[in-house]
Amino acid sequence: MATVKPVQSWETDWDHADPAYNQNAPQIWDQLRGTCPVAHTNRYGGAWLPVTHADVSAVARDTDHFSSEGAVLANRPPREEWVSLAPIGAAPPITSDPPFHADARRLLLPAFSPQVVAEWEPEIRRLCNELIDNMGDLDVVDAAVQYAQNIPVYVIARMLGLPLEDSDYFRETVHMVLEEIGAEFGERQGAFEKLDAYLTMHVQDHIENPKDDLIGFLLNAKIYDQPLSPQHVVGTIILLMVAGIDTTWSSIGSSIWHLAQHPSDLHRMVNEPELLPTAIEELLRMYAPVTMARIVSQDTEIGGCPVKRGDSVLLPFPAANRDPEVFPDADKVIIDREENRHVAFGLGIHRCLGSNLARLELRIAVQVFIQRFPQFELADPNSVTWSLGQVRGPRKLPVRVTQRA
Ligand code: HEM
Repeated sequence: MATVKPVQSWETDWDHADPAYNQNAPQIWDQLRGTCPVAHTNRYGGAWLPVTHADVSAVARDTDHFSSEGAVLANRPPREEWVSLAPIGAAPPITSDPPFHADARRLLLPAFSPQVVAEWEPEIRRLCNELIDNMGDLDVVDAAVQYAQNIPVYVIARMLGLPLEDSDYFRETVHMVLEEIGAEFGERQGAFEKLDAYLTMHVQDHIENPKDDLIGFLLNAKIYDQPLSPQHVVGTIILLMVAGIDTTWSSIGSSIWHLAQHPSDLHRMVNEPELLPTAIEELLRMYAPVTMARIVSQDTEIGGCPVKRGDSVLLPFPAANRDPEVFPDADKVIIDREENRHVAFGLGIHRCLGSNLARLELRIAVQVFIQRFPQFELADPNSVTWSLGQVRGPRKLPVRVTQRA
């Protein structure tokens, strides 16, 4: 694991790879909102961190000045040495800019419609119950390791048509892409090349043995009346793995982490099941896992702060969700909050395309967990660990089960 020079100041030297960042992120955002709402760091070639809802939304909507080509902020060569993959980017459509973005996004929409996604409900429910059955009668279970992390990796591997036996490899790869951001560029590049070779082999297998799954869907898709290029097919598979795994795992884990510490919320959710959809939206607001990055493509400003072409920007949607200017009692989970226009799934042209699937997985995972374990608490708050980087969620989450159904 790469070692990160500890942060000296969150205002002038922030680093999302410092373990203290995700562990204390809500407090850091609160502090910055009051003192320095567009923080800066010289790390990563120079990058900005706006934390208000207004600034995060303005950048997300402004595709004239901010490019999505660098959606993950990590160590990389200086901008002048980049080989640009525009307009497709490495993982379309999340790394694509207009006008290509709209076409790359449109072709994926049918695969993630509410109707298509809903068909997965029985299988997700079966998997969640099986994971809990496998815990036997342990008093302390790890809700991140034994439960949350397994759900999205299973679902996306099954949807894509990739072998479930390779689940550990998928998690390792996503870990390298999203968490080893402080590693040397060459090391990350090696992992990408290995993934590219792995996926190219599976794409070839799908070409030789056509299958009715998401890889098959991509191979049949057309853009500008032509089949997708191999670079586009593999890039989109990488995106679906990266976007689908850590994000949902983090949301499920954070929701359980909250309920383990708020018995009255847990009690209400167990006893008023009709609250579940509203409560899930509030947990998504409060524990939104995903921060995205942009690159400044033309000199401009963020909230009055000048930014230069080539600078990077982190877009912490989770910080926007906790802005008291927009959400009353922003720092409290109100599980029956009625007005809740949160931005956990982003906003603007890149708004999450997998939100129907993410909501389905999160709803069923939480529902099954609290049905089977109507009472639980943190086994030891100090043994909870958090992810590094742009996706925030618990990675170790031991809970003591005090009642089983
Ligand atoms: C709780 C879970 C999830 C959260 C919070 C989340 C959040 C986000 C956010 C904030 C964006 C916007 C990116 C940007 O502005 O640059 C995004 C984009 C995207 N997400 Fe999700 N996501 C989740 C799960 C998923 C899943 C399960 C999938 C599919 C397997 C998925 C697929 C995508 C795709 C394809 C995009 C790119 C859309 C575009 O560029 O037009 N996400 N997601």
